[in-house]
Amino acid sequence: MIVKDMSAAVENQRTVEIELVNGHGGADPRKWEDLFLPTPLKLENRLRAQKIEARLSKLMLCGSTLRRVGEVFEKEIEAGLRQQPSSLQMENTYVPELPDGTEEGSFLALDLGGTNFRVLFLELKAGQLLREKVKHYHINDALRLGPGEDLFNFLADCVQDFLVSQSIEKETFSLGFTFSFPMRQHSISSGELITWTKSFNCGGMDGVDVAALLQRCLSARSLDVTVRVLLNDTTGTLVAGAHIDRNVGIGVILGTGSNGCYMERASRVLHWERPHSAVHDVCIDIEWGAFGDNGCLDFLRTEFDDEVDAKSLLAASFTFEKYIGGKYLGDLLTFTLSALARDGLFPADPNFRKLQTSHVSLFEEESCAGEVSRTLSALREACNSDLLSTADALVAQYVAHVISNRAAQLVSVCISTLLKRMDRPYVAVAVDGSVFKHHPRIAKLMNKYIALLAPAHQFSLMIAEDGSGKGSALTAAIAARMATRGVARL
Ligand code: GLC
Repeated sequence: MIVKDMSAAVENQRTVEIELVNGHGGADPRKWEDLFLPTPLKLENRLRAQKIEARLSKLMLCGSTLRRVGEVFEKEIEAGLRQQPSSLQMENTYVPELPDGTEEGSFLALDLGGTNFRVLFLELKAGQLLREKVKHYHINDALRLGPGEDLFNFLADCVQDFLVSQSIEKETFSLGFTFSFPMRQHSISSGELITWTKSFNCGGMDGVDVAALLQRCLSARSLDVTVRVLLNDTTGTLVAGAHIDRNVGIGVILGTGSNGCYMERASRVLHWERPHSAVHDVCIDIEWGAFGDNGCLDFLRTEFDDEVDAKSLLAASFTFEKYIGGKYLGDLLTFTLSALARDGLFPADPNFRKLQTSHVSLFEEESCAGEVSRTLSALREACNSDLLSTADALVAQYVAHVISNRAAQLVSVCISTLLKRMDRPYVAVAVDGSVFKHHPRIAKLMNKYIALLAPAHQFSLMIAEDGSGKGSALTAAIAARMATRGVARL
């Protein structure tokens, strides 16, 4: 589904806004700044509305602040590619080709990154997915926070269980391992974890090659399965998207965590471990979740972000992800409402973790529809209070909108900076992740802000479903195709 097609209204709005940006019709430059503001809070009690807007003003970013974020992002990109100190990993994924419709074969794919772990079997013919079997496995806290060896043994147990359940445990398979964490990759099939993110924090993983560890655990179970590619979910999304539209050049995840990758000119990349003279472009995993970990974005940070960070599993890391990721938006909503409660602007304090990112989406959905009933009952439950009124529900919807607006703006800054950097006539952006799929207005907001920030660049946002599964199998097929052509492993 192409989001661009979903919202012709957004496209029209975009035309008007671009005219303003370009100054057509003698537009006042302040208008451009105004286009970044969230919808104002409308309450009968005007004074209360004004006080709330003022209290949340640090969460509202104007166009020039976003431009500044874009400039810092570009500098960090450059430094990361040159292997100079940067909060951006800019990791070479060694994926130099995208699908061309010749991908063939049966593959296994593993998808590790959220609370559910998936094992997939995928059969490809002429680049099309013919057959797919998927099984989900829950990863409990002991595995997510215990020794890494235990986790990887569990992953191998799941693969074995899956193969047995499909009666294919005696067959030979190539496997694509989607490991959605920052890695230092040494080739398309090897890499070490740099740091855990989101809800994982296993011990004993320093310097461990995660593909080799998985291979060891699989071989110990006498499974004839070879780990052919090790990739991040953004790479999988880019590859899955490029399979649908050849113009895809950027892959984005907007889910529990947030990250992006893009096709960079090989000549601009310093980290290579083997000869690569034949490579023109290569996929770079940016790891923008860590953007700002070196303090370069401190000018954005609010007291609400400090609280989210302090209560997170991995405090003082993945600064940017905590402004955008679905793992954190519910906490941001909670802490912002609590701050309003402390100032007497909201009647109750939500209990910690009672409001999730799904509530941010729900509040936004009801706000779009001009309703409050489900917002109100969710708030009453989260605050354990019957004192809340319709006006309070409108306040909570406003907070959800302000934090959604900021998340959309920040991810749009990254995408617009990449569009400018790639400077192609048109780039399709493949996006996957729960926030992008379930938040009712994030896609629309992103379309608007990317167009405002990169007005000279043509783009579209498209949903690339299941980049971590299908993208993984397609990447394994690309690696097999390159090997058949005699292309040396990068
Ligand atoms: C986190 C991980 C990153 C992943 C993203 C989305 O930011 O570090 O590798 O792509 O989450 O799942």
